[in-house]
Amino acid sequence: MTEQHFIPKEYKISKEKGQVTWESPSNIALVKYWGKKKHQIPENPSISLTLNNCKTITTLSYSKKESGNDFSFEVFLDGEKKDDFKPKIKTFFERVEAYLPFLKDFHFKIETSNTFPHSSGIASSASGMSAMALCLLSLEKLNNPEITDLYFYQKASFLARLGSGSACRSIEGDLIVWGETKAVNGSSDLFGVKYPYQVHEIFKEYQDTILLVDKGEKQVSSTVGHNLMYEHPYAENRFKQAHENLEKLKPILESGDLDQFIALVESEALTLHAMMMTSMPYFILMKPNTLEIINKIWNFRKNTGLHIGFTLDAGANVHILYPKNEAKVILEFIKNELVVYCQNEQYICDQIGFGANQIKE
Ligand code: PMV
Repeated sequence: MTEQHFIPKEYKISKEKGQVTWESPSNIALVKYWGKKKHQIPENPSISLTLNNCKTITTLSYSKKESGNDFSFEVFLDGEKKDDFKPKIKTFFERVEAYLPFLKDFHFKIETSNTFPHSSGIASSASGMSAMALCLLSLEKLNNPEITDLYFYQKASFLARLGSGSACRSIEGDLIVWGETKAVNGSSDLFGVKYPYQVHEIFKEYQDTILLVDKGEKQVSSTVGHNLMYEHPYAENRFKQAHENLEKLKPILESGDLDQFIALVESEALTLHAMMMTSMPYFILMKPNTLEIINKIWNFRKNTGLHIGFTLDAGANVHILYPKNEAKVILEFIKNELVVYCQNEQYICDQIGFGANQIKE
């Protein structure tokens, strides 16, 4: 399949105006995407858990205008006009216009809000871009009600990817693979697919408690970080390792071997940060409290034998992953010993989720 698959036959949307609302979750990668080619084509495959509670809710209001050369839209976050979001959205519109040919025929009002605190260091790009892709694609569906669910979800993921790579893994749940690899049948560089193999019950309600260590602006953006993989001395081996780790994860997900699961996931998180530290220029996104938390987790795991592990995204926050049947004791530990390392003692309890939902037509 190529990009051509998502270029629709010519159509005009007959409806003059209307509104559509989607909510879409964030996701956290187990095997990390780091390094990309043009148009968010990943250098290596990744797999993520879709989250349940960390979501963006976006309402798109559209009204027909004289078709011109420019996009016309306004953006609001929590009811407040956000002109500084406009350049990113304009770039997104430019990238998806070939696949959504009606974009210049409408004026759009985009109203968005997140369930997690704004600038908490939790990336809202995955949930935000996927919600937006779904809203826009709903307009296409209005005119082509016969498009199948498979096409709709694949195209939504494809469009979200053009907004922000990892956003393509937020459309569905509960485990999503993105990036072509021999390890996973049906995997694609163009969009995320549901993990197609057997998964042990223990993962069905897996918990993710996100410790907000640093809410400040990131010192180096993901875009810059991805680009530093171009000349990176370890890039080739890293990309190879990601394929291998996806292969290794298959029997682990099937058997529910949590010790091996934790070892693979923690190694992936630290490898991601090792790539950052060995880029030129090099950079560090972890903070002293990130390391304090990691050491506390390791000690607690050693002392209790409980299956607590961590992963990191491109920032200082720590995602603590554990099975639901151990949640009581682990949450006590988090509250008593880890929350002191968080900014304003903030943390978010989340768990594995099943993807985006349309709230209103
Ligand atoms: O989607 P981006 O370009 O913000 O990249 C995100 C990359 C990581 O979060 C660090 C890893 C991943 O696979 O989500």
